[in-house]
Amino acid sequence: MVDKQLISDIKNSVNIVDVIGEVVQLTKAGRNFLGLCPFHGEKTPSFNVVEDKQFYHCFGCGRSGDVFKFIEDYRGVSFMEAVQIIAEQAGIAVQSLPQVGAKSQVIDAKQPFYDIHEEAAKFYHAILMTTKMGEEARQYLFDRGLDDEVLRHFQIGLAPGEGNYLYKSVSGKFAENILTDSGLFHISDLGTIYDAFQDRIMFPLTDDSGQVIAFSGRLWREQEEGTGPQGKYKNSRSTILFNKSYELYHLDKAKQVAKKTHELYLMEGFMDVIAAYRAGIENAVASMGTALTREHVKHLSRFTKKVILTYDGDKAGRLATAKALDILEKQTVEIVQIPDQMDPDEYLQKNSPQALADLLEKTRISRIEFLMDYWKPDNIENLQAQIEFVEKMAPLIAQTPSVTAQNTYIYKLSDLLSDFDYLQVEQIVNASRLQMRQQRQKQGQEQENNPSPVFHSGNLQRQLPQLIRAENHLLHRMSHFPYILNDYRLRTDFSFDTPALQVLYQLLCQNGEVTSQDLSEQTEEVQRAWYRMLEEDLPDEIAEHELEEVEETRNRELLRKESQQIGKKVREASHSGDADQALLELERLIAQKRRME
Ligand code: UTP
Ligand code: MN
Repeated sequence: MVDKQLISDIKNSVNIVDVIGEVVQLTKAGRNFLGLCPFHGEKTPSFNVVEDKQFYHCFGCGRSGDVFKFIEDYRGVSFMEAVQIIAEQAGIAVQSLPQVGAKSQVIDAKQPFYDIHEEAAKFYHAILMTTKMGEEARQYLFDRGLDDEVLRHFQIGLAPGEGNYLYKSVSGKFAENILTDSGLFHISDLGTIYDAFQDRIMFPLTDDSGQVIAFSGRLWREQEEGTGPQGKYKNSRSTILFNKSYELYHLDKAKQVAKKTHELYLMEGFMDVIAAYRAGIENAVASMGTALTREHVKHLSRFTKKVILTYDGDKAGRLATAKALDILEKQTVEIVQIPDQMDPDEYLQKNSPQALADLLEKTRISRIEFLMDYWKPDNIENLQAQIEFVEKMAPLIAQTPSVTAQNTYIYKLSDLLSDFDYLQVEQIVNASRLQMRQQRQKQGQEQENNPSPVFHSGNLQRQLPQLIRAENHLLHRMSHFPYILNDYRLRTDFSFDTPALQVLYQLLCQNGEVTSQDLSEQTEEVQRAWYRMLEEDLPDEIAEHELEEVEETRNRELLRKESQQIGKKVREASHSGDADQALLELERLIAQKRRME
C-alpha cells in the first residue's frame, strides 16, 4: 500500500503551471496556458496546461496527464521517481519518502509524526485542564467566554512556561529524527533540545481527517517589558505533515456540517471560528495566519462550492475580502460584514452568541454588493470618479445571470451616483455586455482562422462521437459525486461501451477514486481517456433529470451503433451470397429499428 494521501499532498503542494513553466515557455491563453509541445516537434503551439484542473494536454500529439505524468514523460523516469522529484521541488522531506521501489515505506514515514502530534496535543490539553500551572491560563480563556466544552471540542491546551516539558514527556517514545523533524522542538547551538512552544495557549491544527498535524500557540500573559516583540500567534514550521498554504483550521469538523448546508464560512482567526461555534455555527474555518491561497481554495472546493467570507470588519479585513474574492473567482461567494470594525469574536463578546448567529445567517451580501461598496470612490461627487466607478461595475453586473438581480444592482448603483440615472447606468451595462460578447466572438474567429487549436474544451468535445460524450459525462459525474458512483455500482448490469472508460469505471468502483498512481499503471489510451473525460465542461451542480437524459442519449446511441453493425453484417452476408444469413441479420435489424422508435 502506498500512502495515497501523501502523494496527493505532494501533488497539491505544487502548481503544474510552475513545474511545466520551468521547461516550457508558457503564455496565458484564456483560462489556460499555451506553449510549444516538448514531446513532439512543432512550430505553432498546441500544448495546453489547464491550471484549474492541474493537467496538460497536447492537441498535436495527444499526450496528456498530471504533473507526475509530465515528469515521467519529460525526464523518462518511473512514477515513484516523478513523485520524489516533485516532493523535492515542494520541499517535502525526501528522506522520509521511500527509495524507488520501496513503496510500502511511505505510509510508515508519516505515521510517527501523526503519533507525536497526537501525544503532544493530549499533553498540552492535560496541562491546561488538570494542572495548577494551567489554572491561570484557563481563567484567561474563561474570561474570554470559553467553557470546558469548547476547550475540549477544540482540544485547546497550554504549553508550559519554560524548559522542555514536552520533550521530557515524549522523547523516550520516538526516534531522534522524528523529534527533530516534527517541528515541536528546537535545538540550541550547544545541542540541547527544548520545546518550540513555551508559555502559549495551544491550538492544535488538524488535517481534514482530524489528525493533529501542527500547532499554533498564542501569547496570553501581559508581555513583560524588555522581552521584545513576539508574535501574538506562532505556528509550527512547515513539516512533512504541515503545509500552511493548504490547511484550514477546523476544516475536519466543518466539512461534516458543510455536507448538509453546502457552505463554509471563511474567517481570519481561530478565535473567530470558536466564536462561530459558540453561536451554534460549526461550519467555519480559518486560514493559519496567511492570506488565502489558491491551494486553500482548492482544498475548500473539495467540500463546498459556496464560501461565506467573514473577515474582520476593519480596513485590513475589507482589503483581505477583496483579495479573497479574486482567488474565489469560481466559487459562489457571499460576504458578511462585521460592524464597527470588529471581528466575529469581538462581535459576540459585545453582543451575544445569538446576535452573531443572526449576523452570520441573515446579513449576507453578494460579491457585487460588496465590491460596489468597496470600490465606491470617496469623491463620489466628482463626475470623473463616477464614470470610472460605473465602468468598473458594469462588466460585473452584466455577467450576473439573474435579470432581477441585475436590475437591483443597476438601481443601487444609480442611487449612489448623482450624475447618472437608472437608464444611463443600464445603457452602460448593456454596452458592456455587448462588448464582452463581441470579444468572445472575435476570440472564436481567431480560433477558426488559426490552424493550431488554442485550447477550447467546447470545440474538442464537440468533435467526439455522441456516445463517448455521453459516457464521459456519466463517468465525470461518478468521479465527482460518490453517491452517483454508488448508484451505478449497485446496477450490476451496467457497463461502459467505450473500453477505456470501462477500465476507469472499474478502478473507480474498486477504490472510490482514480489517483495519479492508479493512472500511471494504465495504458496510454486509458490515461488519455481519463483526461478527455475531465475536460468535459459540466456545471458544478447536477441538474434535475440530468443523468436520465444522458442515459437516454447513451441508450439511443448504443442502439444506433448496434444497428449500424447489423446493417454492415447484412451487406456483408448478401455480398458473399449467404442469403439465409442475410435474412437473419435483416430480421434482427428490423427488430432493432422497432426498438429504437
Ligand atoms: P488576529 O490578530 O485577528 O487574532 O489574527 P484573533 O483571531 O483576533 O485572536 P485574538 O482574539 O487576539 O486572540 C487573526 C489570525 O491571524 C494569525 C492567526 O491565525 C490568527 O488567528 N496570526 C495573527 C498569526 O499567525 N500571527 C500573529 O502574530 C497574529
Ligand atoms: Mn481578529
